[in-house]
Amino acid sequence: TPPRILRGRLLSFNRRPLSIADTESYEYEDDGGLLISEGRILAFGPFETVLLDAPEGAEIVDHRPNLILPGLIDTHLHFPQMQVIGSYAANLLEWLNTYTFVEEQRFADPAHGAGIAVAFFDEMIRQGTTTAVAYCSVHKASADAYFAEATRRNMLMLGGKVLMDCNAPEALTDTPQTAYDDTKAVIADWHGKARNHMVISPRFALTSSHEQMDVTGALAREFPDLHIQTHLSENTAEIARALELYPEAQDYTDIYARYDLLGTKTLLGHAIHLSERERDVLHETGAVAVHCPTSNLFLGSGLFPFKEYERRDNPVRIAVATDIGGGTSYSMLKTMDEAYKVQQLRGERLNPLESFFYMTRGNAEALSLSDRIGTLAPGSDADIVVLDARATPAMALKMDVVTTLAEELSLLQTLGDDRAIAETYVAGCPLKSGL
Ligand code: GUN
Ligand code: FE
Repeated sequence: TPPRILRGRLLSFNRRPLSIADTESYEYEDDGGLLISEGRILAFGPFETVLLDAPEGAEIVDHRPNLILPGLIDTHLHFPQMQVIGSYAANLLEWLNTYTFVEEQRFADPAHGAGIAVAFFDEMIRQGTTTAVAYCSVHKASADAYFAEATRRNMLMLGGKVLMDCNAPEALTDTPQTAYDDTKAVIADWHGKARNHMVISPRFALTSSHEQMDVTGALAREFPDLHIQTHLSENTAEIARALELYPEAQDYTDIYARYDLLGTKTLLGHAIHLSERERDVLHETGAVAVHCPTSNLFLGSGLFPFKEYERRDNPVRIAVATDIGGGTSYSMLKTMDEAYKVQQLRGERLNPLESFFYMTRGNAEALSLSDRIGTLAPGSDADIVVLDARATPAMALKMDVVTTLAEELSLLQTLGDDRAIAETYVAGCPLKSGL
């Protein structure tokens, strides 16, 4: 592909906005130009300036009046749960046993996984999500299907074969030994190939025996550069069960700490009901609490203390995610709409600049990948989303009275969904228009 200049309104964050008036936290170009070539961003600036410095023959793609942002990032979802979404259940444990542990068994069949992978990646592109961190199923074949499709589309994706050896149907369990062997095989087959990142993925304390936790800790020590993902403190009945299974642990967080699973590359899904001690442990280890608002509301799990985690003397690192299929939307816009409402119920506010920071650079920082993604800074990968705040008649009507960038972002988050995603570029290639 020839070098391209994307023309439009550029928005890229440098750091977390401290208030709605924090204009220092981001770069904005009203008539901007973004030069991309060979999968990378080469220049960011006023259109006329970028045009002057661009190589001969660069193609101009006019996205005015739309906003051009870094591609959206989803830091926690389940690839084998596309057909679980919306399943009616009272709470987490009923939902897992009734629907999820049944559905995931179908991924023993490689052909099933391959088919769902196509639908899954199509949906990511449709929603403007260019990087995601997924749990596959317990079957190695599900991770193969996931990474094969990510490779085909040249997307920067993280994911892992799930480790689970107890308290689940026989057909959905591995053993400590097969968990170890299959994890190593997925690393050997996929990690570092194309843009793939393999993630060590013990499902949660309830479905891993002490022996499997030992093996998980051994994997973490053997591969210190890999990310680790698991679930923590989502639901009160789950917490009680975890402490029954691991009576030697001080609290739920301590279960994972005892096996060396907490570090700056650890992603802890939900992490809602944490004591002050546990919050301190997350701070000290640098592990990330991943907020999944639509899932927490759908399963009635609780209201994530976002602002409390941010504000404390020892802040907890935070990321945001859909948690499909406990979550109810693939859209990161809709996810932040619900995150905003969860904070309202806690008497707190999450401003629209913060929301868009978290969907992009914030999540990239949580993954230790902000040198590559989550920003439009020159040198980054050309993973880009184009947002149309006039995508529907109701949005266009509201846009007639919008006067500030923050108001436009608030509108995009409140009424926006896949229709507001005008284009999704992956490594410089426009993929949404090709769907
Ligand atoms: N805890 C353990 N497994 C799961 C899962 O698949 N979804 C959610 N929301 N929580 C979990
Ligand atoms: Fe989850």
